[in-house]
Amino acid sequence: MKFNLSEVNDLIRSRRTIRPEQFTERKVQKDQIELILNNAQWAPNHGHTEPWRFQVFQSEASRNALSQNLGRLYMETTPDKLQNDTKLAKLIRRPLISSVVIAVNMSRQIEEKIPEIEEIEAVSCAIQNMQLTANAYGIGAFWSTPKLIYTSGMNTYLNIKEKDKCLGLIYLGYTREEWPKSHRKPIEYNTIWKTP
Ligand SMILES: Cc1cc2nc3c(=O)[nH]c(=O)nc-3n(C[C@H](O)[C@H](O)[C@H](O)COP(=O)(O)O)c2cc1C
Repeated sequence: MKFNLSEVNDLIRSRRTIRPEQFTERKVQKDQIELILNNAQWAPNHGHTEPWRFQVFQSEASRNALSQNLGRLYMETTPDKLQNDTKLAKLIRRPLISSVVIAVNMSRQIEEKIPEIEEIEAVSCAIQNMQLTANAYGIGAFWSTPKLIYTSGMNTYLNIKEKDKCLGLIYLGYTREEWPKSHRKPIEYNTIWKTP
């Protein structure tokens, strides 16, 4: 055995979504953020495009600016009838109560040799590496994808190109609650062992 499978299983299976509302004031340290980002780089990617790009909102000023811009973009991109004060308040509050927020973007290759879906898949794998590394530290992670992150207004705010995509805001912090438990269906529900 190359690795301790029992630990690998635990790391993968105990990864949980921890939302910022559960975070304490305890700070995630810069070296921890760096390891999270370094491990993200090791995700599989087709054609070595390494399409992931990260914007780290760690300082209070940057998280304040993110908060204000998420609020603004929500108001600008949500039809009046669908605007919801509770959602807006949550969106504004989350960057303020997190130790760090990382916007993870997909950078579209200029030649567009690789199908876009594969670039998105590669970035999703990078996000999983981030979440697993955070889990190893006991740091809670929340992959958030409010609709506004897919708008051109978000690209303008993040200063990324039209064909690039923000695929998520990853909120990091330590939880005050007990680490949540979850469950998954057994493989019999989703796996066919082909016979012929
Ligand atoms: C692509 C993607 C986008 C997600 N976006 C959100 C989101 O916007 N809001 C949210 O509450 N959870 C979001 N999640 C997290 C899921 O809600 C969470 O993974 C799911 O409830 C399973 O819980 P677990 O992560 O603890 O296993 C997202 C997950 C993925 C994979």
